[in-house]
Amino acid sequence: MAEMKVTPWEVEGPVDYDRLIEVFGVKPLTEDLIRLTGKYAGEVHLLLRRKVFYAHRDYDVFLKRYGDKEPVALYTGRGPSSKVHLGHLVPWIFTRWLQERLGLELYFQLTDDEKFLYHRDYTLEYTNSMAYENLLDLIALGFDPKKTFVIVDSEDIAYLYNIALRVAKKITASIVKAVFGFTDSTNIGMYFFPSLQIAMCFLPSTIRNEKVLVLIPAAIDQDPYWRVARDIASSLGYPKPAQIHSKFLPGLGPGGKMSSSRPETAIYTTDSPEAVYRKIMNAFTGGQPTAELQRKLGGNPDKCPVFTYYSMLFEPSEEKLSERYRRCKAGEILCGECKRELAERVAKFIEGHQKRRERARDRIEDFLIRTKVSIRK
Ligand code: TYM
Repeated sequence: MAEMKVTPWEVEGPVDYDRLIEVFGVKPLTEDLIRLTGKYAGEVHLLLRRKVFYAHRDYDVFLKRYGDKEPVALYTGRGPSSKVHLGHLVPWIFTRWLQERLGLELYFQLTDDEKFLYHRDYTLEYTNSMAYENLLDLIALGFDPKKTFVIVDSEDIAYLYNIALRVAKKITASIVKAVFGFTDSTNIGMYFFPSLQIAMCFLPSTIRNEKVLVLIPAAIDQDPYWRVARDIASSLGYPKPAQIHSKFLPGLGPGGKMSSSRPETAIYTTDSPEAVYRKIMNAFTGGQPTAELQRKLGGNPDKCPVFTYYSMLFEPSEEKLSERYRRCKAGEILCGECKRELAERVAKFIEGHQKRRERARDRIEDFLIRTKVSIRK
């Protein structure tokens, strides 16, 4: 079995989420925090209830500030290296819910610079065009244009540069080597890049000219940035950013997260219904090799990406989810049937999303920071 590896650029092997809590030094999300979120939001989102968002740093501080009506905002982002897949939607769906329910501003960063620097063969034109393609997916999810500020790094750098300089001066090469695993052959653009992803944590404070605490909903792979951000925040006069971390939507193969580097095991929001069916019908499952054995021994939903898709995104009813779990374990449902039902739901969701995504083409401007905020140093 491959070793677990979780970095902002690679996730490999079976992910042990409890161990990540220890290794990254984050806290498990408690029932009390979930309850308090529900009190403010008027409902508890499925992704919280099912502990897909399962760990945090200072989420309690964020909620307290929110309750005290002190300035808070949301921050998240995307490295536009490819089309968007269903995994990316997990933190965004939750972020959108937080925006709507708590009435918060969202600052969203598209790091076309990062993906240009990281991938040897990508041109800046390609990653920049992907940024705008990916933005359509964000808009399609229903974010509020009045409260959403999107930065495209390569074009909107003036918003970030003065903050990033102050950030960069606090971070040595040995820190980024230790935190991100950079070596002597990593290009120097990558050495500077973390200061931009970190600078975004402080942009709302600069724009609003008050100390704004940001909450970052993202999968746990982005955590290394926030460790560094939190270490230097106070010395720059900013509140430490808070995080709420999600688990990964798995790929359709055995082990690993859904990732664009494995296209046959990823479902893109732009896939055709045929591609969705093909990929899901070919998925790895927690089932037995034959129908006969499956009926006798039952499947293993805990190790099955297909079941995880139901529990993370595609089965809102708790009752129906536990019934599916029970039937799988008892061998009453075969993998083919379970996959077909999932493929139907995913194809239906994607069809609706694609319509909203096309309509978003005329609305891009409404979301860009440059169309609504002037630059402050
Ligand atoms: P990127 O493009 O790798 O990922 C975008 C967001 O999607 C999450 N994610 C997943 N979540 C669930 N299941 C998966 N299989 C999955 N794969 C990716 C990531 O955690 C992330 O939240 N450097 C960043 C861009 C960025 C950013 C940020 C991300 C800039 N500022 C602030 C989060 C928060 C990147 O390349 O993300």
